[in-house]
Amino acid sequence: MKRHILITGGAGFIGSHVVRHFVRKYAGYEVVNLDLLTYAGNLENLHDVQQAPNYHFVRGDICDMCLVRTLFREHNIDGVIHLAAESHVDRSIRDPFLFVRTNVLGTLTLLQAAREAWGDSSEVERRFHHVSTDEVYGALQFGEEAFSETTSYNPHSPYSASKAGADHFVRAYHTTYGLPVVITHCSNNYGPYQFPEKLIPLCIRNICANKLLPIYGKGENVRDWLHVKDHAEAIDVVFHHGRNGESYNIGGSNERRNIDVVKLLIRIVDEELGRAPGSSEHLINHIEDRAGHDLRYAINAGKLHSELGWTPKHDFEKGLSDTVRWYLGHKEWLAAVVNGSYERYYAEMYDGQ
Ligand code: NAD
Ligand code: TYD
Repeated sequence: MKRHILITGGAGFIGSHVVRHFVRKYAGYEVVNLDLLTYAGNLENLHDVQQAPNYHFVRGDICDMCLVRTLFREHNIDGVIHLAAESHVDRSIRDPFLFVRTNVLGTLTLLQAAREAWGDSSEVERRFHHVSTDEVYGALQFGEEAFSETTSYNPHSPYSASKAGADHFVRAYHTTYGLPVVITHCSNNYGPYQFPEKLIPLCIRNICANKLLPIYGKGENVRDWLHVKDHAEAIDVVFHHGRNGESYNIGGSNERRNIDVVKLLIRIVDEELGRAPGSSEHLINHIEDRAGHDLRYAINAGKLHSELGWTPKHDFEKGLSDTVRWYLGHKEWLAAVVNGSYERYYAEMYDGQ
């Protein structure tokens, strides 16, 4: 069956992997990528698919109702995979209003456009897949059971509060208007094309440049790391086979303390650069803790495994080594995203179209 899918935020880290996955795997689908190209969005993340005949890029804002309505109509959209968001906790602490605008109002705009375009007809297969986060569940203490889909919402940061708000609107549109929705909650992702403000690419960049590694507090906070390609596959499975109105947790059962992840990165980067083992450990710099820093996230992905058969394929240490090698081989990409040269790239590629 030919599908016409609107992917939002497809020029970002996870979105670019989801776009690539769908464009390559489903040649018969039309994939429309709507992305505003904020600091976090970069068309170079998609250089290898942008000429594909089943791919269209539209630069625009998910809060622009007029544009979103037009896209639903012109492309006959029957599926949405919604990833566009402000995604960085530290930025949300500085500017919570931007997070409400993009994450809550943007999601509401898309829901309303889908509702208008799809009406209440259930004859045609349609799906609104909202990509949420495990952070809406709050923080776990050590020894507490991992988050399941029935864990109560308890967001702590402006980022997670805005994602929780969006999730509530998604459920409300399902309950009130019958919109066919699914929600996924994934743990921390790592892999190529992640903007170097997040822990792993930031540390890779700094170790290479012999710059200090800012570790919040003692570095004992725990995250449950998953390779971004495993996340893209899980989204594919849930988008096609998830039960209407349900939510699914996605995670790698791979809990690590931040300090251990950083030490592993030091080991890998030092080895790759031919430095003596551990020679970059002096770069570790414990700084003031993040305000409201969540102690631990851990995901129970049992429902996704038992209902839909998904399991992660990437081993963390191998995935992290490959990720380090990817960053070392893409210094131009790193420089480009940091210096904003994708703006020039965009102008060259798309001006006048
Ligand atoms: P990202 O910050 O790398 O990318 C976000 C993308 O959204 C960018 O391309 C940006 O240009 C675009 N965008 C921002 N505002 C927009 C707007 N108003 N209109 C259109 N596009 C806009 O984010 P990411 O890390 O790839 O995360 C993608 C999604 O996955 C988010 O919804 C995030 O909450 C969720 N998520 C992320 C993680 C993670 O570890 N990164 C884990 C779980 C869930
Ligand atoms: P991050 O990559 O920002 O993801 P999130 O906050 O969504 O989990 O941070 C991952 C962990 O690393 C988190 O516990 C905060 C910590 N961290 C640092 O210690 N130093 C840093 O410079 C950053 C960006 C994060």
